[in-house]
Amino acid sequence: MAPLTFFLLLISSLFLSSQANLHHHLQPSETQDESFTSILVSQQGLDFIKDLLISKAISSIIPLQLPATIEKSARIPFLGSVDMVISNVTIYKIDVMSSYVKPGNSGIVIVASGTTCNLTMNWHYSYNSWLLPIEISDGGSASIEVEGMEVGLTLGLENHEGTLILSLKDCGCYVKDIIIKLDGGASWLYQGMIDAFEEQITSAVENAITSKLKDGIVKLDSFLQSLPKEIPVDDIASLNVSFVENPLLSSSSIEFDINGLFTARKKVPVAKQYRQTWQPSVSCTGQSKMLGISLDEAVFNSASALYYDAEFMEWIVDEVPDQALLNTAGWRFIIPQLYKKYPNDDMNLNVSLSSPPVIRISEHSIGASVYADVVIDVIEADQVIPVACISLEISGSGSVKIVGNNLGGSVKLEDLSMSLKWSKVGNLRMYLIQPVMRTLVQTVVIPYANSHLGKGFPLPIIHGFTLQNAEIIFSSSKVTVCSDVAYSDSDHLNQLPIRSE
Ligand SMILES: *[C@@H]1O[C@H](CO)[C@@H](O)[C@H](O)[C@H]1NC(C)=O
Ligand SMILES: *[C@@H]1O[C@H](CO)[C@@H](O)[C@H](O)[C@H]1NC(C)=O
Ligand SMILES: *[C@@H]1O[C@H](CO)[C@@H](O)[C@H](O)[C@H]1NC(C)=O
Ligand SMILES: *[C@@H]1O[C@H](CO)[C@@H](O)[C@H](O)[C@H]1NC(C)=O
Repeated sequence: MAPLTFFLLLISSLFLSSQANLHHHLQPSETQDESFTSILVSQQGLDFIKDLLISKAISSIIPLQLPATIEKSARIPFLGSVDMVISNVTIYKIDVMSSYVKPGNSGIVIVASGTTCNLTMNWHYSYNSWLLPIEISDGGSASIEVEGMEVGLTLGLENHEGTLILSLKDCGCYVKDIIIKLDGGASWLYQGMIDAFEEQITSAVENAITSKLKDGIVKLDSFLQSLPKEIPVDDIASLNVSFVENPLLSSSSIEFDINGLFTARKKVPVAKQYRQTWQPSVSCTGQSKMLGISLDEAVFNSASALYYDAEFMEWIVDEVPDQALLNTAGWRFIIPQLYKKYPNDDMNLNVSLSSPPVIRISEHSIGASVYADVVIDVIEADQVIPVACISLEISGSGSVKIVGNNLGGSVKLEDLSMSLKWSKVGNLRMYLIQPVMRTLVQTVVIPYANSHLGKGFPLPIIHGFTLQNAEIIFSSSKVTVCSDVAYSDSDHLNQLPIRSE
């Protein structure tokens, strides 16, 4: 039977090609899109997905009724011509003893070996003998055990305009051994005869499994193609999760490069260019995690630019912990001329960012520089009168954390410098204003920012999977989340690929 050679070929092509050209996907092409987020699925992650797919495949295959009704006639001495029919061959149990997944240059190879199947079937025979005038027939059921079945497939994975296309490059199923036990009727008499069916049942099983695998891959492919190209973050932004380049298959991992940048949900073209100095590659070194997701600092800066453009970064402060600061009386000693001009008037502070915050990631930390203008408004007879403007340069240091499948974070104030931009109430004594502004930043601006950052934004993870035991690693201009994943079956079952009718 040919399939054995098929497996040898499969495996040897795998090993021969794995060193060959790991970086073939990096060949420059004219329309090369840049990638700012990379997802590396390690061998542990591939094993996890493989086990999940195998168990999904099995539960969707069984019970599998083989289409074949097999008939055979045999000439038996004394009895003459005997017709035997077996029908309703049904696989009702499949056990995979061992399996592995191996990415390589020729594709992703998945092999399940030592697989056993349990089947049932109906058998029936009839014959006309010259000894007896009537037709004799008998029938019953039988159990079949298939042992040492090898199933293997090679999958191709390619990027086509931002979507992954999965193809089946090779597929095979090879049954080593089959045992048929008849029950009922005069089964002892026909046991020997039924063995003549072995070969046909074997190939019926092989064909049925192979064709189910092909169906499964088609479904998995359409599942991959139905993955969204954008993940909504909120009303304003979504994440562009279009694939860029073909997945990079190394001998023990697969890396997916995606665009990763924030884009506007309302399709306002953003002319921002994010330069990236080098291709991101994921390093979860020393970690035996299933998954690594590397985000370039450009991802954070694209968020910053987007929310800035959406004017999300301007707000009127009319409530502060020390409410006295929102009346000119509270500023009597800080800006005496303000109090003199507008005695006991309410005030508000109009805080707006003068440019998008700049985010920088280094080996040790993530930091943000924020440039803000604070306009001091006086409210007199429902008139808002801007009286002065102070420019702030806020340096914050951030920490990031995983909240569900989101990457959230928080900032704290590192450094604050300020200058007077303009004033309609004469020169201001900045050394008096400084503590007020510092308090404002500490008690209003930072908590406000943290209330938004806390929730974070979604990491590119397929529905149904959740991060577990995630760790965060900083490197120059990148944040990498190294994590295991768990899969919850609950309501995502139908989205998963290989459900068959
Ligand atoms: C075929 O076999 C399955 C499983 O043993 C059984 O449930 C089903 O009723 C059978 N169908 C026929 C037509 O015998
Ligand atoms: C399936 O077949 C195996 C042998 O291949 C046997 O040990 C096992 O008991 C069978 N299971 C069922 C549920 O019949
Ligand atoms: C998303 O990223 C892809 C790949 O980089 C790019 O071609 C596409 O224009 C981007 N979509 C938007 C809405 O920016
Ligand atoms: C807040 O200040 C900015 C300039 O810093 C100005 O453009 C905007 O109109 C002001 N908003 C309100 C509500 O006063």
